[in-house]
Amino acid sequence: MKYGFFDDQACEYVITTPKTPLPWINYLGNKEFFTLISNTCGGYTFFKDAKLLRLTRYRYNNVPYDNNGKYFYIKDTTDSTNEVIWNPGWQPVKTALDSYECRHGLGYSKFTSTKNDVKAELLTFVPMNDNCEVSKITVTNNKNTAAKLSLFSYVEWCLWNADDDMKNFQRNLSIGEVEVVNGGSAIFHKTEYRERRNHYAVYGVNTAVDGFDTSRDAFLGAYNGPDSPDVVADGKCTGSIASGWSPIASQQINIELAPGESKTFIFTLGYIENPLDEKWEAPGVINKKRAFEMLDNYKTVEAVDKALAELNDYWKNLLTIYHVSSSNEKVDRMVNIWNQYQCMVTFNMSRSASYYESGIGRGMGFRDSCQDLLGFVHLIPDRARQRIIDIASTQFQDGSAYHQYQPLTKKGNSDIGSGFNDDPLWLIAGTSAYIRETGDLSILKEMVPFDNDMSVAKTLMEHLKCSFNFTATHKGPHGLPLIGRADWNDCLNLNCFSEHPGESFQTFGPSEGPVAESVFIAGMFVKYGEEYAQLAELLGDNAEAERARAEVKKVYDATCTAGWDGEWFVRAYDAYSNKVGSKECEEGQIYIEPQGFCVLAGIGVEEGLAAKALKSVEERLDTKYGVMIFQPAYTKYHLELGEVSSYPPGYKENGGIFCHNNPWVSIAETVLGHGNRAFEIYKKTCPAYIEDISEIHCTEPYVYSQMVAGKDAKFFGQGKNSWLTGTAAWTFVNISQYILGVYPTHNGLSINPCVPADFGDFSLTRKYRGATYNISVKQNGAEKGIKKLVVNGKEIEGNIIPYDESVKEYTVEAIMG
Ligand code: BGC
Ligand code: NOJ
Repeated sequence: MKYGFFDDQACEYVITTPKTPLPWINYLGNKEFFTLISNTCGGYTFFKDAKLLRLTRYRYNNVPYDNNGKYFYIKDTTDSTNEVIWNPGWQPVKTALDSYECRHGLGYSKFTSTKNDVKAELLTFVPMNDNCEVSKITVTNNKNTAAKLSLFSYVEWCLWNADDDMKNFQRNLSIGEVEVVNGGSAIFHKTEYRERRNHYAVYGVNTAVDGFDTSRDAFLGAYNGPDSPDVVADGKCTGSIASGWSPIASQQINIELAPGESKTFIFTLGYIENPLDEKWEAPGVINKKRAFEMLDNYKTVEAVDKALAELNDYWKNLLTIYHVSSSNEKVDRMVNIWNQYQCMVTFNMSRSASYYESGIGRGMGFRDSCQDLLGFVHLIPDRARQRIIDIASTQFQDGSAYHQYQPLTKKGNSDIGSGFNDDPLWLIAGTSAYIRETGDLSILKEMVPFDNDMSVAKTLMEHLKCSFNFTATHKGPHGLPLIGRADWNDCLNLNCFSEHPGESFQTFGPSEGPVAESVFIAGMFVKYGEEYAQLAELLGDNAEAERARAEVKKVYDATCTAGWDGEWFVRAYDAYSNKVGSKECEEGQIYIEPQGFCVLAGIGVEEGLAAKALKSVEERLDTKYGVMIFQPAYTKYHLELGEVSSYPPGYKENGGIFCHNNPWVSIAETVLGHGNRAFEIYKKTCPAYIEDISEIHCTEPYVYSQMVAGKDAKFFGQGKNSWLTGTAAWTFVNISQYILGVYPTHNGLSINPCVPADFGDFSLTRKYRGATYNISVKQNGAEKGIKKLVVNGKEIEGNIIPYDESVKEYTVEAIMG
């Protein structure tokens, strides 16, 4: 069952009922000011950091779902015997609407609803160049008679630190402060501005208003929720000035509309920072100059339309960098629009703020952000460059790294600390992807601090060497890399041994153990060790490349021996040196991660192990909704394994379909030339392909979720944790670089598709290092293999189009077979 449809022309997903199985959200903002907005106008806003600079309040885990947003109430008093109050997004009043539509687009959302012949059109977006969210609302009277309406706006301020805001009531209920000017058309939230903050928020509208409120209790009435505000029921704002408790901003505009008449209002929610010496306009009165300049930018419909056009152009441009036309509209819409869009959202958010990540728990993940980079580096290489430097700056001198850092301070997060032994290698992955994309070797010579201490800075290449050496020098009894707290699978906590509830699996126990080893990290070391060696070569350090390859060879060999279980790769060795992910185990016999990653790294391809491993995956882990993370799921808690066995069978890391590593297996299949199987795996978790089972899948049909419940779970097929997942980057890498086969190498683009036999011909535009490549692929029913590659009229040897700085346009004809 579907709850909407894709409008590919407009690059929008159109939701046709507010009653989606879960809130279906969108992200607004491209730089520092961000909003999450759901299809019922729920959500919240923050500046830079969802924990430290939260502008508006949201209530996670509340009832009903999706509680608190930025709401508009329309009170229609035209017929005094039949007054009705409704919201364009249906929530919070939930008056049945005569029609409803929500269009989530690229950086904006639009709502069109009607009730009793009044139409509301609401457009919300964050402009490219201002720290604000603009909401344009147009109300149209389609009645035969004049309409009498009141429009009420409503936002509830968060007292900046979202964590403290929901905990520290003894202080917080006394600190709220606001200022109101122009009769209420501009309302300022200035809590803590009197002391150490130099920022405030503003909510303004481009018209004179008929009333305002800034106290939540005054607006809603004590014991009421936003579904039944007293003020809206009474039809009259009270002019309240908040003092402590919960400050809000609400404006009232009374509207009379002749039949057929429309009126438009523009509301702007902004964040302002003042230099310290310009904080005040008068004692106790905040300096509003910058706020008014911002509000002025969005005073007219023309200005708003122009700002929206700028945003549209930005996206249009970005999405020309990789664009495919195939006979398969689902592939095209994911590749050209939604998958890349989600990659950009993961760039902005890492794992901080979604409807599953509260914005206060995790900042930017070291491994997460490095992997996200793989999906957006082609779109915003300059910002990717900065991201790499920021991430590397949180590394320690021994190569290990803080597992997370806060986006506002860019400092490592000591609550979680380090000890996740895959982290260092992801830095090589991200840097190599950046250099293959851009050819910019200068980044390797940048001086980058360790743990943010510039006095011990070394070049980025030295950082990568530390990463490489960390793994090379932290090996266990089988010559495989030590796992530390965990590797990619945060829940495989082999040194943790936690016996008491409440202990964090992520931080409990020693961060290092001398025995527990990871075959997954071994796969990573083989893949990224080789990429490191290539970087050394590019810098002319052949001795280092040779050293690296010799180290890689050792781990390769250990993987093929101690890491091999007979029919598949072992997952790990625990702290007692017992196998994890082996036929010897009672549960958790075969794990997906080492099969996917070792094979995509090329391990065992020649030896015939790779094909066996993938066959085992197909036989033992595959389901109709995707490939499960392992089988059988753990039915009881294993002290020696940690969080992985804490989940009920079928959920999350305990046997769920962890979407993130499905593309690893799909890529692995392309390494073996299995186009049919690679694509089959791609399709199973691909949002566009599962749109019509939205009632089972539940999460948004336009983005990937982290997890789909596995076959052991009660709700097999149900998605969770949509949006902020490395799945976005890895599926984009899979479809764009391996299945469609346009892969950036250090020497130029390589063309080597691996598609199902019936995929058909396709063409592709790829912008790469300042040139445009117009590529057409004739498939000839082949799953893999290029028979002929013609570049600008000349047939070339091999798969790689040599990069030539002087050529700006390439016409490429590839014939498979
Ligand atoms: C989740 C993992 C996540 C980890 C991060 C665990 O509870 O299952 O997916 O990586 O928390 O802290
Ligand atoms: C989600 C985390 O963000 C990521 O870092 C981890 O690799 C996966 N869960 C698997 O545990």
